[in-house]
Amino acid sequence: MEKFYWKDEYSLGVEKVDCQHQHLFELVNKLIERSDKFSDLKLISETLTEMLNYAKEHFADEEELMREHSYPELESHKEQHTYFIGTTAELSINALNKQSMVLEEIVEFLKLWLTLHILKYDMKYRDYFKANIPAKAAFSV
Ligand SMILES: [Fe+2]
Ligand SMILES: [Fe+2]
Repeated sequence: MEKFYWKDEYSLGVEKVDCQHQHLFELVNKLIERSDKFSDLKLISETLTEMLNYAKEHFADEEELMREHSYPELESHKEQHTYFIGTTAELSINALNKQSMVLEEIVEFLKLWLTLHILKYDMKYRDYFKANIPAKAAFSV
């Protein structure tokens, strides 16, 4: 499976968020490296759990940031996060049932969802912050 490469266009310009997004990319890559072995499904499941836990932390931080700045689309953004957690958890369970093909599905889902979510939804709150909050306050988070 092809690795997941970070591109400048994914950068929101909010340091903490960009670091967290990059870490999520690294965890997807860790999953890709481990899934190539196909031998240790427990290890893959652990990696997925690590990713899920980290994604939850990241989503909580983002939601807190949006709440602080009264972002009007917080609720629909939260629904996106909830969908991601639910779907990834479900795919992870399927992987544990030794459906090796599902691993590729998981990785494709993670890559696609993370990329689209950052470019479409996270960029949207970034644009809102930029337009409504003085630069210093928005980018000191
Ligand atoms: Fe995000
Ligand atoms: Fe988000």
